[in-house]
Amino acid sequence: MEILPNFIVFEGGDGTGTSTQLNLLREKIPAPGRRVFLTCEPTGGPLGRIIRSVLGRELELTRETLAFLFAADRQEHLYGQGGVAALCREGAIVVSDRYVPSSLVYQGIDCGDELPRRLNEGFPAPQILFYFELDPLAAMERIGKREKKELFEYREFQEKVRQRYLDILPLYRDAGVEVISVNAARPVEKVAGDIWKVIGPLL
Ligand code: TMP
Repeated sequence: MEILPNFIVFEGGDGTGTSTQLNLLREKIPAPGRRVFLTCEPTGGPLGRIIRSVLGRELELTRETLAFLFAADRQEHLYGQGGVAALCREGAIVVSDRYVPSSLVYQGIDCGDELPRRLNEGFPAPQILFYFELDPLAAMERIGKREKKELFEYREFQEKVRQRYLDILPLYRDAGVEVISVNAARPVEKVAGDIWKVIGPLL
């Protein structure tokens, strides 16, 4: 597995706080310092917008089509204009809320292992992978407070999500990725502190 240096990803089930932590990180980035880009998948680009409308249940596509869309959005995210791969190779730090592991986990549940593995095998692994560990019941309680539930936001699915993350994380670790499990049950500031201890010195 090729590792893309300077690429950091946040992963975890829905409601574990990855997006919240990306926002908190944004506030901490020092003005002078190394170039830093914070991003997410699905992206805000045209393919990401289609994906969002599927997640929001405004558009219905087959699960397999969704797997292809996630991979296509990722291809653009990495190698399109201003893409993550070039930025990282130029020495910038890029932190993404979700990446390939999300496809291996979520589309793995939906479509079986083979399709997401095939669609994602060419993408490099991140240098650092933060895994947000939280009991799905607690995560679902957090989501319950949100107005509208998305496609994957239900308990049975999230139990499977958690199990699949636990299955695939050792593979990343064995491949040389720095995998850091974060106890996401704690207050957001504490979680942010743990993340900053790792990312802060890089900036
Ligand atoms: P989020 O922005 O709240 O994390 O929502 C993204 C949703 O999309 C979340 O349920 C995880 C899911 N997802 C996949 O199923 N496959 C993927 O490859 C990615 C990036 C996200």
